[in-house]
Amino acid sequence: MTMSASDSAALAGRLPQSLAEAEALDQIEPLQRVRSAFDLPPDLIYLDGHSLGPPPAAARARLGEAMTAWERGLIRSWNDAGWIDLPTRVGDRIARLLGAREGEVLVCDSVSVNLFKLAAAALPLARTRVIHVEEGEFPTDAYIAAGLAEITGAGYEQVAPEAGLDALSRGGVLIKSVVNYRTAAIADIAQHEAAAAAGGSAIVWDLSHAAGVLALDLTAAGVRLATGCTYKYLNGGPGAPAYLFVRSDIADRLSSPIRGWFGHAAPFAFDRAYAPAPGVARFAAGTPGILSLATLEGALDVFDGVDMQQVEHKARRLGDLWLACTAHLGWPTASPTGGNQRGGHVTQHHRDGYAIIQALIAAGVIGDFRAPDGMRFGFAPLHLRYADIWRAAGRLSVIIDSGAYRDPRYSKPARVT
Ligand SMILES: Cc1ncc(COP(=O)(O)O)c(C=O)c1O
Repeated sequence: MTMSASDSAALAGRLPQSLAEAEALDQIEPLQRVRSAFDLPPDLIYLDGHSLGPPPAAARARLGEAMTAWERGLIRSWNDAGWIDLPTRVGDRIARLLGAREGEVLVCDSVSVNLFKLAAAALPLARTRVIHVEEGEFPTDAYIAAGLAEITGAGYEQVAPEAGLDALSRGGVLIKSVVNYRTAAIADIAQHEAAAAAGGSAIVWDLSHAAGVLALDLTAAGVRLATGCTYKYLNGGPGAPAYLFVRSDIADRLSSPIRGWFGHAAPFAFDRAYAPAPGVARFAAGTPGILSLATLEGALDVFDGVDMQQVEHKARRLGDLWLACTAHLGWPTASPTGGNQRGGHVTQHHRDGYAIIQALIAAGVIGDFRAPDGMRFGFAPLHLRYADIWRAAGRLSVIIDSGAYRDPRYSKPARVT
């Protein structure tokens, strides 16, 4: 059945009121063509792209090519297959998604390690030597800050949630997420950067829950330093390498505290003295993981030609639909419930949240759980459809109404939640 232009416009302008409307909206929304790039089991509804994105078919293909280059080219592939350039080449692909310029993004290490490197490099940019982290940030951000403070003799100050903005007036370095890992609340990046400029402070942004789902513009917002992971909305695979961003006009003034040979200006000169590479490349440390990088490079193909404004818009609407479809359960949420203040996921609270998530997984809907009672549902817009949200909420209602989640097998703790 074809829809009239006015029916399509009406449907696109409001949340679907039925499964049939959700299916109709899926037919006309602009990102539906991207879904076929993913290899997903047909009846599974994956609400966990905010934690580990599903594999795009191109990721497997690129991994296969890298394996072949390894088998056939052996060590020659560092040059012949361009392995040596992968960290910056893939960085340039990510740069477009961040609103950064070519040459400003390097793929390397993990977010934890990159936070350490960037926060250490940022200390000389700040008027006072103290590192601030808000309560409620992802734990690694606070652990890294406290450890770095301990070994450098800088101060470490944990501030209240949302108090990072005020802390910027006192100088120092603030480590802050653009999208909070629990609540999905979005920080006003430009406002924070303006406060940092006025206060003589610096910010290291954690983009982990923002990249690949928000239409970021780091350049316009005045960001100097940032890092994020690639295994969530960028679909790079389990343990895929992280990336870091350093604004090009300051990169040559900064030093990495981990002076590895891959950050040297001429690693294969084997000089005794350390000379940092120009630009962001100085933040590399050791040999890059080529198989993971190749997989990530393939995964990024799904973003080719994709408008990030549309991605952000759809993520929010999918989240709005989930909140509307689950409103009858009366679950509290710390996530902003509307407008443009929420990233791509929603956390709802229930004291039996762990068991509910396990029962949902058994019913073919995958979300995740964050202790003590947070059920997190992610709305990655490249592979999720409005009808998936409708169906997932239906399966959830059955589990709650029947009490099926009370089955003791759903309370058995797993190591990864
Ligand atoms: C916001 C945030 N920061 C940092 C990390 C940790 O990243 P990594 O394991 O790459 O160090 C995560 C992991 O999920 C995260 O969600």
